[in-house]
Amino acid sequence: MSSDAATDSASHGQHAPAEGGRRDFLSLVTAATAAIGVGAVVWPFVDSMNPAADTLAAGAPVDVDLSPIQPGQQIVLLWRGKPILVQNRTPAALKVLQSKEMLSRLSDPNSRVHQQPKYATNWHRSIKPEFGVLVGICTHLGCLPEYFPNPSKSVPVENWLGGYLCPCHGSKYDIAGRVYSGVPAPYNLPVPPYTFINDHTITVGKNPAGHTFSLGGIVQI
Ligand code: FES
Repeated sequence: MSSDAATDSASHGQHAPAEGGRRDFLSLVTAATAAIGVGAVVWPFVDSMNPAADTLAAGAPVDVDLSPIQPGQQIVLLWRGKPILVQNRTPAALKVLQSKEMLSRLSDPNSRVHQQPKYATNWHRSIKPEFGVLVGICTHLGCLPEYFPNPSKSVPVENWLGGYLCPCHGSKYDIAGRVYSGVPAPYNLPVPPYTFINDHTITVGKNPAGHTFSLGGIVQI
């Protein structure tokens, strides 16, 4: 195992989630179109894209074609019973991620808490800046954060810069899943293991060569 891989798979802390307060995402994901909000699409579970149901239950990797996802849009798919958000980010959204105004609002802008693999420990929390991949589970009590990608003076809240708002207790995240300061959620949204198998296809559930990251080692999911 490389030193990168060893670091990547290491646990950086323990925080037992309040399982009793969490939802059953297997049953919720079909309702996620409404829950996730403007610009989101729930990706259909079609045989052509996904392995058979029995292998999915075992957590088999899932290939996702990025080409139909329009700039500003995200899709939601299910992997290991978890909603996975896959975004196509606009140049404007990437600018906001690096802006002083956004950085000043964040609790962990540099992703110091182990909530993502080493290959996504960067300002965009992803392999390629323009495509984001996140676990859509609020780190407070596990609701589905709603997607509001566009800056707005008033929607969903005053002076919004784009990102996610959790409808349960108001936690906010930027488009890279970085949590705001002063909200109930303590940590950034997790980034699942994933890799590019070509320019327009990712595999969720599989690391790039040399990495052994798994969600089992993060601080909280
Ligand atoms: S579950 Fe998201 S803010 Fe409480």
